[in-house]
Order: sequence, then structure tokens, then C-alpha cells
Amino acid sequence: MDSEIQGRAAHSAAIRERAEAEMASMGVDAAFIDRLVETFYGRVLAHPALGPVFDARLSGRWPKHMEKMKSFWSSVAFRSGAYGGKPVQAHVGVANMAPDLFPQWLALFSATLDDIAPSDAAKAWFMATAERIAKSLTLSLFYNPALDDPRLRKG
Ligand code: HEM
Repeated sequence: MDSEIQGRAAHSAAIRERAEAEMASMGVDAAFIDRLVETFYGRVLAHPALGPVFDARLSGRWPKHMEKMKSFWSSVAFRSGAYGGKPVQAHVGVANMAPDLFPQWLALFSATLDDIAPSDAAKAWFMATAERIAKSLTLSLFYNPALDDPRLRKG
């Protein structure tokens, strides 16, 4: 039993080490995650469509949200296990949430990375990850079988 637990711990440590090495090779460290979250949510607040949706829900709770988002992104990037929340539930019931906000969120994230990402590889990694999560959140929040008729699909 003990050796099984030790084996699992060694496996998690190996995954973490590999993730840290991959991030380091792109110039990504904890300080960059902090900067990304601070810069991005600063711009979210100033964005005409996104700002009011975020602020209506987070007014008075911004510092906690920022800490959560830093631990979220370090968990994804470094496999640190720091974040243990439930992203889908967190978005359920956000007033005025709409599918067309997601492309705007992604465009703002992309512009932020253009300005501050330490390398092209880092930008590509953060964008690919955000696009995957945005797609999965969009499906969980808005999937509607009535709109999923293949005959309605373009191209
Ligand atoms: C239009 C797009 C989005 C909007 C309007 C939005 C809005 C919000 C709001 C208002 C919260 C705070 C919920 C609360 O604490 O009451 C939140 C939390 C969060 N969002 Fe988003 N979000 C969007 C897209 C995304 C995307 C693309 C990601 C991931 C890349 C993401 C990841 C998260 C995470 C991890 C949390 C924290 C969840 C928790 O409480 O554990 N969001 N979002």
C-alpha cells in the first residue's frame, strides 16, 4: 500500500517537473502568471462588453477572484494542483452571460499575450489552452440540441 502511494506521489512529481520544464523553456514562470492575470483582468474591467458582466458579479470580491485566477492558471501551466474549484458551476447564473462574449474574451486575452507573453510559444500555449476551455464552457453553458442540426452548419 505504502509503495503504491509513493509510486503515485513520484508520478505526480514527475508530471509537475515536466510541466515546469516545458513552461521554463517558453519563459513562463510564476511571476508571469501573476502579471498575465493582473494585466488581463485590468483590461477586462475596461472592456465595454465584458467589464460590466464581470463587475456586476465580482464587485467587492475582485482580490479573491484574482487570487483564484492565479491559482487556476498555475495549476493548468505547472500541474501544481493549487486550484480545486469548479469552473462550470462558477459561470452558471452569471447575469448577462452570452455566447458572443467568449470570442471577445479570447480576442482580449490574445491582445494581452501579444503585449506581454515572454515568447511566441508561450502565447500559442496560453491561447490553445484558453480556446479549449472557452469551447468547453460554451458547450456546458449554452449547448442547445435545437441549434445543432448538421443541415444548418455552414461550409
Ligand atoms: C465571456 C467569457 C467569460 C465571462 C463573462 C466569465 C465570467 C466569470 C465570472 C463573473 C467569474 C466569477 C464567478 C464568481 O466567483 O461568482 C468567473 C470565474 C472564473 N472563470 Fe470565467 N468568464 C469567462 C470566460 C472564462 C474562460 C475562457 C476561462 C478559462 C480560460 C474562465 C475561467 C474562470 C475560472 C477558473 C473562474 C473561477 C471559478 C471558481 O470560482 O473556482 N472564464 N468567470
